Amino acid sequence: MIVLGIESSCDETAAALVNDKKEILGQSLLSQEEHKVFGGVVPEIAARSHLDHIDEIIESCLIKSKLKFSDIDAIAASSGPGLIGGVVVGVMAAKALALALNKPFVAVNHLAGHALCARLTSDVQYPYLLLLVSGGHCQILIVKDVDNFERLGTTIDDAAGEAFDKVAKMLNLGYPGGPMIEKMASVGNENRFVLPRPLHNSGDCNLSFSGLKTAVRKIIESYSRDGNIAHTIINKQDTADICASFQYAATRSLCEKLELAIKIFKQKYPQGKDLVVSGGVAANTYLRTHLKELADKNGLIFSAPPIKYCTDNGVMIAWAGLERFAKGYTDSLDFKPRPRWPLDENAPKAAGAGGVKA
Ligand code: KG4
Ligand code: ZN
Repeated sequence: MIVLGIESSCDETAAALVNDKKEILGQSLLSQEEHKVFGGVVPEIAARSHLDHIDEIIESCLIKSKLKFSDIDAIAASSGPGLIGGVVVGVMAAKALALALNKPFVAVNHLAGHALCARLTSDVQYPYLLLLVSGGHCQILIVKDVDNFERLGTTIDDAAGEAFDKVAKMLNLGYPGGPMIEKMASVGNENRFVLPRPLHNSGDCNLSFSGLKTAVRKIIESYSRDGNIAHTIINKQDTADICASFQYAATRSLCEKLELAIKIFKQKYPQGKDLVVSGGVAANTYLRTHLKELADKNGLIFSAPPIKYCTDNGVMIAWAGLERFAKGYTDSLDFKPRPRWPLDENAPKAAGAGGVKA
């Protein structure tokens, strides 16, 4: 069984082919550079760029795989949540191929792509505990099956990646901020600035990053001659110390909430063995190291996709599409792309779970 996956929900135009032996047969990815000058993704520019490049990305993926369109069994596309202009481009391309080739179309939830990717790259079994940390989302979930997610907690304000991006922007480190913060933090002192522990005593698995970001802003403003963040002059070591202190505080917050989630997970699913992290922020080696320690301490196996498959890519969409297709799920060509699409929308709400983001 071979599935083509198409990703276009944010600023990566990507396609990949995977099979049911967990082989990646071909892949192509274009990271849009146009947004860097704006310090964040501009939806309209993203949509136009997806439109300009999607055909060549799909074609080059097929050429690399040395397969023919007729070898493909189903065509999957990231169909939401995401920037809707871009999502529409990928979904329309997938539907057009499905129609022309007379193959089934599979609508994949982008978050399910992140969530299931570790099952392609490691031997992760359902049910597993997942920390999903990306630019738009930050959730702790129990993944019970390809279409069965229970959310234990979520951010009540910013996503983890969003916080990394905003802190990087305040420090003029460019976009995306996560990789630059990580690089600077590696030469910084994480104990230099004491930052708050958001929702430390909330007793649930919800997270918050907005207060952390404001605390960092105040530190940066203290370097300004007139209190205006635009007038700050911070030397490299101070910048590194701010990055390290922020990265430490964000990681501590994620680990604290996961510790509670592990207790709930073990109680509900004693047979569950795996702790998985996925999404763009999962590319952070410091976070990965601390999550592995947490998993070891609690007798769980830690897994994360290889770093290149943590940020958006076609492989995760092809794999999630394949898992859905293998279970017999296909979607009609009437499927409407969804700007909001909570992973757990069909699940009964867990006690204490909640949150505001899709
Ligand atoms: O999953 P992703 O590619 O796109 C979304 O679906 O949002 O995640 C992108 C996010 C950005 O916020 C980026 O700053 C963050 O992932 N990110 C990182 C790292 N690499 C990417 N955050 C922290 N450390 C990293 N090394
Ligand atoms: Zn993503």
